[in-house]
Amino acid sequence: HDHLISARQLSRADVEAVLDRAAEFDAGERVDRTGDLLGLCFFEPSTRTKMSFDTAMKRLGGDTVDMGPVDSSSVKKGESLADTVRVVEGYADAIVLRHPSEGAATLASEFVDVPVINAGDGAGQHPTQTLLDLYTIRENAGLDDITVGIMGDLKYGRTVHSLAEALTEFDAGQHFISPESLRLPRNVRYDLHESGADVREHTGLETVLPELDVLYVTRIQRERFADENEYRQVAGEYRIDAGTLEAARDDLTVMHPLPRVDEIAADVDETDHAHYFDQAHNGVPVRMALLDRMLDRGDRR
Ligand code: CP
Repeated sequence: HDHLISARQLSRADVEAVLDRAAEFDAGERVDRTGDLLGLCFFEPSTRTKMSFDTAMKRLGGDTVDMGPVDSSSVKKGESLADTVRVVEGYADAIVLRHPSEGAATLASEFVDVPVINAGDGAGQHPTQTLLDLYTIRENAGLDDITVGIMGDLKYGRTVHSLAEALTEFDAGQHFISPESLRLPRNVRYDLHESGADVREHTGLETVLPELDVLYVTRIQRERFADENEYRQVAGEYRIDAGTLEAARDDLTVMHPLPRVDEIAADVDETDHAHYFDQAHNGVPVRMALLDRMLDRGDRR
């Protein structure tokens, strides 16, 4: 079975196939997947990813079975991840997994015969977020000959790791803006370097902002810091407001995977730059396209 664990797996052709199909779903295309069931195993909080997978599967005509919150599942009694997914594969045709540990989706995929979709593994990867991010970028700026700025918590931000890796498949310059302590992890920097991508790192937004087609802002991932003091040192930096964007191009697209804390002031919401709510909505057609494709490859039905 094909699993989707990392954005590194996604070729340009794969991305384009999913986005093209997503555009068909966005335009009203319908299929009937009555009887297909998607297992939702979320070991960490989620609003968008979980609800949009749930919506997507139901819009495809299928249904979902949800492990529910960790506190009301048998994880609370000490059941392992491996045992949990081995049980859920008997209930569902594919499993969407979010987990606080990096590598959890890889581990799960080694224990089951149904497709495993990584919906976020700690500070690792979040490849389905990347697909909806790319869909949003394509709609607003196109995917070639673009300059993308990615700002905030580049160390712990799994959406950043996945997006940066996927953008290497396109003709996209990438500027990374963060405090020194939250630079991209070494493994991601290595992959970007190996890909030959046009990548630069900065500690401030000012010099690079006027060049950008897309500015992707992220939350400082407080829950990943071992030391709360370290979090406090960087919290509140790397915010934008409508005033900041006066130096940007008129057609700059501002994105954010959400949830936001205070990185994007509410006055940006009223500008034409704001695309983060459309971005969240794009999760439904994109996940419909992904599920339709992955379930087609399954051999259980
Ligand atoms: N963007 C994202 O993954 O949001 P949730 O954590 O709400 O799923």
